[in-house]
Parts: sequence; structure tokens; C-alpha cells
Amino acid sequence: MLEQLSQLEKESLAALEAVKDSGALAEWNRRYLGKKGALTQMLRSVGQLPKEERPAFGQAANKVKVALEAAYEARMEELRLADTAQELERGAVDVTLPGRPIGPGHLHITTQTLRQIYAIFAQMGFQVYESPDVETDEMNFELLNMPPHHPARDMWDTFWVSDEASAGSAQGVLLRTHTSPGQIRVMRERCPEPIRVILPGKCYRYEQITARAEHQFYQVEGLAVGHGISMTDLIGTLTEFAHRFYGAEGRIRIRSSYFPFTEPSIEADIDCIICHGEGCRVCKYSGWLEVCGAGMVHPVVLENGGYDPEEWSGFAFGLGVERPAMLKYDIDDIRLFYGNDLRFLRQF
Ligand code: PHE
Repeated sequence: MLEQLSQLEKESLAALEAVKDSGALAEWNRRYLGKKGALTQMLRSVGQLPKEERPAFGQAANKVKVALEAAYEARMEELRLADTAQELERGAVDVTLPGRPIGPGHLHITTQTLRQIYAIFAQMGFQVYESPDVETDEMNFELLNMPPHHPARDMWDTFWVSDEASAGSAQGVLLRTHTSPGQIRVMRERCPEPIRVILPGKCYRYEQITARAEHQFYQVEGLAVGHGISMTDLIGTLTEFAHRFYGAEGRIRIRSSYFPFTEPSIEADIDCIICHGEGCRVCKYSGWLEVCGAGMVHPVVLENGGYDPEEWSGFAFGLGVERPAMLKYDIDDIRLFYGNDLRFLRQF
């Protein structure tokens, strides 16, 4: 037995020498010192020895156990140090290499365009007002004169935030499809004061993405409420905007249109300075680009905002932001705005 014991000690120490990583070390521990390990088995078999041999064997076996445990600990520490050394070598940094330059960064083209728009309308006396991106069905549709199941709701394919059951009902919650719900919010806050504000913000539509349409884009809503405000004021404001944004050659074209929350409703187009009227994919080969829906605020909407339509009138418009920027900077695909390609973004 003693013979076997010293054999085991030699063998296990040799095996420990050969251990090269922590996996193998654990395996070694299991094999010799574990519950079913060789040494443990041997210690258990003490009972089979004649009584007088037991103390000597027990002592010897315990000594071996202590020796193996110490050797195991030492090997573990050695491996740990070797690992750390290796790691340091792998991650070594050459501090003499020259650094890579970090560009100073600049405002995104959309932000720049928004700021130009704010500045132009500020000169015309419009304040900036912000309203939430997540809206209720009530604000986005109902109070804008579109009760549930109104066919005009189909003009805005909607991302619903609430579950399907509430979609299209007053309890529905959605990502605003346009900035027009802000009209109701400002009117309710300002009533009975006259109003002249713009409401910038992101809008969301569940739509096919093309060169002309993104499913997230910016609008700047405009709203003026006062006494004796008329269509001429609206057209004058939009024409002035076109001149200040594009320069004296900026022309707009007014077409009649339909929105449930304005009456009468119009759409304003700007002539396509990408193709100069010849027709390109951005203007759908028409020579004009639609940039703005607008109209006189519908009496029902004025009333929902708290204003008596017998006394008050107003105009509203919803101006695109990316499209006017496309015209101004000769960009032929709206997808470039949010594609995060630095080669594109750096140009502005
Ligand atoms: N909210 C409309 C749209 O997104 C645009 C609009 C705004 C029309 C204000 C009339 C008045 O299509």
C-alpha cells in the first residue's frame, strides 16, 4: 500500500507538471484530489489494512494529500501569472504610434435647415413651440375634425403605440403622423390670445421608403390665429418664406387640396431646382416639388382649440424640412439624410 501511495504521488506530480491551462488543472484536481479521485479512494481503503499498519499508512497518506494540495495551489498561481503576462503581451500598445485625428463634428444638415427655417419665421414674428412625438388619437385625428373611421385618416398610415384593439379609437396612442396635433395644444394653452407660432418636430408614417419618402421625417407646422386673418396672409407668408429660403428666384405654386382640418385647403409646391423643371425622380418628373400642405383653420378645429369661429380666423401650414433642403442643396435622395454616411454628411 505504501508503495502504491508513493507511486501515486510521483505520478500525480508529473501529471501536474504537464498541466498547461486552468481547464486541465481542474481536471487534474478531479482526478487525484476530488471526491472520487485516486488519493481519496486510497484514503478510504485504510479499513482493509491490518490494524497495526493503519496509523503509519494514514499518516503517510495525509502527508501526500497536503503535498499534492500545496503543489496544486502553486501550479494554479503559476498559470495565473502566465495568463496575465500573455494578456499584457497581446494587448501591448505602441505608445510611439501617431494618433488618428478626430474631426470636430458639425450640425446635421436637418438641424441646419431647421435653424434656417426658425430664423426666417422668427423675423416674421413666429415663436417656436414644441409638442410631443407620442400623441393620442384624439389629438392627432379626432380634434382635427377626423372622428374614428373618417376616410381621411387613410392619408396618414400610422405607427400605433397602443395595442391593435385601441387603434382608431379615442384611447389609441400613436407616433404623431404630422405636427398638426400641436395646433390644438397651442390653442388650448393660449386661448383667448392671438397666436403666431411654428411647431417643429419629427413625424412618423408607416410607409414605403423611396427617394422621396422616409418613414421618419421633420415638419414645421405654422399656426396663426387672430381677427381677420385670410388666405392672402397665408399665401403671402409662404411666398415670403420661399424667397428668404431660396433667394429671389424661389417660386411657389398653389394648388387646391383637401385636409379635414383646413377649409379651404391648399398645397404649395416649389419649382424643382434640381432639374429646373425638366423632370427628375425627386419631383416625379413634374418639375415641381410638394413642400407644404396648408389652409384656413377649419371652424371645428378653432372651436376644439377654444376659439369662437365667428370671431376668430386663422391659417395653418405643415412645411416639410428635408424636401426644401433637397432642393436647396441639390440632393436627389431623401434616404441620404438618415443613412449616416459621413461622406454625405460632411458636405454640409
Ligand atoms: N398635417 C398635414 C400633413 O401632414 C399638413 C397640413 C398642415 C395641412 C397644416 C394643412 C394645415 O399632411
